[in-house]
Amino acid sequence: MKIVFATNNAHKLAEVRAVLGEGFELVTLREVGITEDIPETGATLEENASQKARYVYERTGLDCFADDTGLEVEALNGAPGVRSARYATDGHDFAANNRKLLDELQGEDNRRARFRTVISLIRGGEEQRVEGIVRGSIALTEAGCGGFGYDPLFIPEGYDVTFAEMSANEKNSISHRGRAVAELVKVLNGR
Ligand code: IMP
Repeated sequence: MKIVFATNNAHKLAEVRAVLGEGFELVTLREVGITEDIPETGATLEENASQKARYVYERTGLDCFADDTGLEVEALNGAPGVRSARYATDGHDFAANNRKLLDELQGEDNRRARFRTVISLIRGGEEQRVEGIVRGSIALTEAGCGGFGYDPLFIPEGYDVTFAEMSANEKNSISHRGRAVAELVKVLNGR
């Protein structure tokens, strides 16, 4: 069965392909002729994931899914959350985002945080949502050079290293996205 993943991110595509059963042919936005940026104007991760999935469904009529991820910091009332990519600037400036996060948390004892990924799946016109969460805390300084985004600052619960200090496999096996994808696969395979 053909299913569109609303992404052109090769890394995300490979991750989902690796866990999806043989019965699914995963195709990208480019492969279905969507080359423009899909609007992401929602106030929540849920709204953004739905907005992207619906956009694809309306244009292609194909089964599809879209994801949205945010880092939610307890002491910052859930910020940067849906604004994670554009926390410090309008661009995806990871270094500036990390500096801002450390500044906002200066002197703060409660450093609890979680990454949350929401996936919206549209099958036969029906929408379903799954999510994946990994809890952890924000380090006092950056450590590690793997991964991307907030990885050098995020220490998952039960570990004493950041995501950026882990191998990609180790991170994927416990990450928000890995968990959301595992939930998606269960739904797609009817489990
Ligand atoms: P997206 O919805 O996957 O594009 O993620 C939005 C933003 O959240 C990214 O630009 C990153 O700043 C942050 N982010 C998402 N996933 C991760 C991750 O696995 N590690 C670190 N930061 C992430």
